[in-house]
Amino acid sequence: MKNKKFKKSALDKINSLKVMRTKKQISKKSTARQLLKQREPIRKAINLADDKKEKFTEDGYVKTGISGFDALMEKGIPKNTSLLIAGGAGTGKTIFCLQTLYNAAKKGKKGLYLSFEESEERLKKHMDDFGWDWRPLEKKGLLKIVRKEPFVLTTNIEAMLANAKGELLIDINEIMEIVPEGFKPDRIVLDSVTSIATAFEKKEEGYRIFIEQLFRFLEKINVTSFLISETEQIPTMYSRSGVEEFLADGVVVLYDLQRENIRENAIEVLKLRGSKHRKIIVAMKITDKGIEVYPEQELFTEIKKEYREK
Ligand SMILES: Nc1ncnc2c1ncn2[C@@H]1O[C@H](COP(=O)(O)OP(=O)(O)OP(=O)(O)O)[C@@H](O)[C@H]1O
Ligand SMILES: [Mg+2]
Repeated sequence: MKNKKFKKSALDKINSLKVMRTKKQISKKSTARQLLKQREPIRKAINLADDKKEKFTEDGYVKTGISGFDALMEKGIPKNTSLLIAGGAGTGKTIFCLQTLYNAAKKGKKGLYLSFEESEERLKKHMDDFGWDWRPLEKKGLLKIVRKEPFVLTTNIEAMLANAKGELLIDINEIMEIVPEGFKPDRIVLDSVTSIATAFEKKEEGYRIFIEQLFRFLEKINVTSFLISETEQIPTMYSRSGVEEFLADGVVVLYDLQRENIRENAIEVLKLRGSKHRKIIVAMKITDKGIEVYPEQELFTEIKKEYREK
């Protein structure tokens, strides 16, 4: 590895420095190229996007309360829209969404966390680890964490889809029980659409219909939704089917990038209908209090330049 220490003569040291610099340039460039390539599908998505602006009101914006992240948008996330929170394994997607719900609950907004992955206990343990006092919020009915089994869900959905013949709008809430009875959330997190997609293995058409109807349902019930999507470390697609990023109003991407022998967390708002936002990748840190974003600490300036020039 690069961090192995060797005894070198002065000349060797100079030579190795030269090599390191070249390697650094190469690795930086190739990561930049990969990042640039990943923008192709999303650029198409932005161009094809419907103009949904009419559904936003002047003051209808939602904040995450995550230090530094809200500064990436002029006003915030337009209320009642759906966001894809995409990123590789361990990039902080779950923490980002838990933190968003926790912050909102502290301000009296109801949040529902629907987990198809981690158990309720584990998610609560994460919040304890970050020192978030979620218990009184849960007691007041402002925070609800529900664990679901994706395979049971798909069996039910398939039966419904067989009857629905594709186009008919099935009552997705009836089968998924997304929203528990009597609970009217302001924000919903779905962790993750990838695990639902996995349960639809080899039934792509069924999944596509399901996901379209899920988005329609979320729009109908007026919630701001955060749909977690697990991607490659440097994604070229932001979801398993590639449909979700077209249907979502916004895409936020989380990165865990290897630069030399250092790993860096980063985040960007890649797309957000109805809101002005900065198109840069900025540094992010998972601290012992949760996620912190540094909006002024831009990574990959070369990307920004090429992206904007196109
Ligand atoms: N208390 C903590 N302090 C600092 N970093 C932490 C802490 N807890 C977790 N992390 C970091 O957060 C990362 C995991 O975050 P999270 O579970 O939100 O990721 P994820 O994107 O949801 O992952 P997955 O794809 O596996 O679901 C870990 O890789 C770890 O580095
Ligand atoms: Mg997760």
